[in-house]
Amino acid sequence: MHDFRYVQGGLRCEGLAVETLARRFGTPLFVYSQHTLTDHFQKLDAALAPVDHWICYAIKANSSLAILRSFAQLGAGFDVVSGGELQRVIAAGGEPGRCVFAGVAKTAAEIEYALRQGVYCFNVESEPELARIDRVAARLKMRAPVAVRVNPNVDAHTHAKITTGTYANKFGIAFEEVEDVYARAARLKWLHLRGIQMHIGSQLTTVAPFRQAVERVAPLAEKLAARHGFEFFSIGGGIGIVYEPALASGEARWWRSPAGKKILTPDRYAATLLPQLRRLGLKILLEPGRFLVGNAGILVTRVEYVKQTGRKRFVIVDAAMNDLVRPAFYDAYHEIVPVRRLAGTTVESDVVGGICESGDYFAKDRPLAKVGEGDLLALLSAGAYGSVMGSNYNSRPFAAEVLVRGRQAALVRERQPVADIWRGERVAPWQG
Ligand code: LLP
Repeated sequence: MHDFRYVQGGLRCEGLAVETLARRFGTPLFVYSQHTLTDHFQKLDAALAPVDHWICYAIKANSSLAILRSFAQLGAGFDVVSGGELQRVIAAGGEPGRCVFAGVAKTAAEIEYALRQGVYCFNVESEPELARIDRVAARLKMRAPVAVRVNPNVDAHTHAKITTGTYANKFGIAFEEVEDVYARAARLKWLHLRGIQMHIGSQLTTVAPFRQAVERVAPLAEKLAARHGFEFFSIGGGIGIVYEPALASGEARWWRSPAGKKILTPDRYAATLLPQLRRLGLKILLEPGRFLVGNAGILVTRVEYVKQTGRKRFVIVDAAMNDLVRPAFYDAYHEIVPVRRLAGTTVESDVVGGICESGDYFAKDRPLAKVGEGDLLALLSAGAYGSVMGSNYNSRPFAAEVLVRGRQAALVRERQPVADIWRGERVAPWQG
């Protein structure tokens, strides 16, 4: 379920008309539904209730302070991948003691910061990183909690740019080497071996790759847990969402794909994995990002021009690839709907931004209602990997962001003032 639906021909987020929000806050505008993200968190939490577990929200998906605060209030932990992300969690009122710190390139300064803040665990991606954490911990005379990220060499059957669990990827330590790495890590005095971690990729829409990876790693986790006294097994993130048309019929059908395909629901995910996980007697950590926030956000944009060339109809909007790069970067599909429903036939259109690149598009040859200048469109499922991947390319400011709860809306990120784009820049002294 999500909370974007048409009421009397107008798109609403919870109890508010998207049109009113666009008028009040301007466009491009990210609109998030607090109820949707709460609901997703609670559904996943409930599905996993039979095991001792922690949901550590992967904040890379959307690190808005307001969204972090929502998850902190729901009792979530956090998965962070940089010192900056950890600072964000703290700024939003999250507890460092409920954070796992992942990533292949942790600097000594980041490790020191995270240790001093008291993170729950470092998810370690290489032996040199283990050695570095040990050195920093020795200097601070603090024991560092670590888990090794296992690369189980399982193909997640997702987009190549978001597959992480095969040996062609830079992530984790090869399955066959993990036991020896733990044996060597156990001799490093300043490390505390707290658990084991895996993550195989993002936007997984079937449960099979998860099952395969857990089947592979769970016995290893069991063996190493007995040897080293682990507390947890993290099964990573990656639960996919439905991007295909869901609003077309006027009702939100997030749990069922339109083609009737079985999709990955929290219940299916849990029912498949729990039997394996339960036996371990370890705390189970999850690091979902997209699943929690993806369908909780939309990007609202206004049509600037409609341009008919000999062969194509281009709908040129005021958002661009600097606001939502997923179509340009991954050829990702985002459903696009008019904020005010239009009667009549659809027409094949390319929906494009104003950036000077042909890759700056949101949809190609897409049947779209006949919108005109000034009309509003909503790009759906833009809550994950949307604003966080934004840039200032073409000196375009970051979009504003609004959080909705019921009939309330709060501006949780102001539109970036243009002069802020070059804040910190200066001309060289010899330029006068
Ligand atoms: N844990 C680790 C170690 C990860 O690398 C990731 C995502 C997650 C958890 C969360 O994965 P999720 O539950 O969101 O699938 N920008 C891409 C997705 C990149 C994912 C990177 N790692 C996109 O827009 O599709």
